[in-house]
Amino acid sequence: MNYDARPFSSRFSAGSQRHPSFAIQGQDPCMLHLRSFTRTLHRQQIDGVTFHFDPSHRHELDPLLRRFLAKPEQYPTLDIPEDTRGVFLLEGERQWVLKRNRLTHWKKQLQNFLGLKRSFGLHDLTNEFINLSVVSGKSALSPQVSAFGYKGRFPFLREEYLLVGFWADHCSVDERLLAHPEQAETLLSAIFRLFGQMLDDDFVHMDPHPKNILVAADGRLRLIDFECCAHSVLDRDFSLGFLLGYFYRFWFRRFISQQDYDRLCEAYLNAEHPNLDRTVFQPVYQRFRDQNVSRSTRYRILTCARAQAAFQREISGSQG
Ligand SMILES: Nc1ncnc2c1ncn2[C@@H]1O[C@H](COP(=O)(O)OP(=O)(O)O)[C@@H](O)[C@H]1O
Ligand SMILES: [Mg+2]
Repeated sequence: MNYDARPFSSRFSAGSQRHPSFAIQGQDPCMLHLRSFTRTLHRQQIDGVTFHFDPSHRHELDPLLRRFLAKPEQYPTLDIPEDTRGVFLLEGERQWVLKRNRLTHWKKQLQNFLGLKRSFGLHDLTNEFINLSVVSGKSALSPQVSAFGYKGRFPFLREEYLLVGFWADHCSVDERLLAHPEQAETLLSAIFRLFGQMLDDDFVHMDPHPKNILVAADGRLRLIDFECCAHSVLDRDFSLGFLLGYFYRFWFRRFISQQDYDRLCEAYLNAEHPNLDRTVFQPVYQRFRDQNVSRSTRYRILTCARAQAAFQREISGSQG
């Protein structure tokens, strides 16, 4: 992972711990743990929110975000809005997705502001910004980040904003199959290939469910919602077991029988992964296909080799 592993006290210079007004003078004390991701971005305050823009889009994004912050209620939402959270469609020279999140718990506000610990990605746009910054540099399967923004007062983060490119003329796998259940098998084979491509590109999306996979008009598949993601693949066969097993449980089983799913998995593995180590793949596949595994466990075992080995021992033992 690309997190700064130093204890947080050593990440701050004396100056950076002073009052946040120093931000105005260009010595931003805020969210220093994001420095490596924001360094090349254009920093700008709008209405109390500190934004970091992709410099090539700054002239388009500045007025767009000003208008949004003045009247957010006038923008179409892409998801059912919640009290603390919204996903909006913004239209400038092109279309953008703006995700906004209010952090309500002081612990999370502190963790995200200071980068205190690796977080598990639940409702967390700071994490999604970090993940997309890493992944979009090496894979065409993810959206490009064009802005990250935050509002807070040292050392508490209160709001997070993330702006990514909108893929027009796409629908989710979920929507497609609700409208065309007969496409389940064809689509599933394409999704397995998408997972294979993900591993070739060296990352693991940890929430790969049918609403987080979009289908283009030409059938091409893309991934969204990177709040929880491993930045590299520790073990390909283990990761395949996770992806294929998890995807059945969340929630392709609504569209296909387990027998058919297992059969299509087999066909895919035989065709594309002839050297697969079954002793690694099979127990992981079965555990994720048959049982819920918590988000924090998923995060641990896909980002930490020792935790992965312990999990493997545990599930191999339990399956005799
Ligand atoms: N890059 C994108 N292009 C097109 N639609 C998107 C994009 N990102 C998000 N959406 C739409 O917004 C919805 C919510 O986005 P998502 O990132 O999944 O947020 P959440 O974390 O709330 O699940 C998605 O289900 C999808 O319909
Ligand atoms: Mg989602």
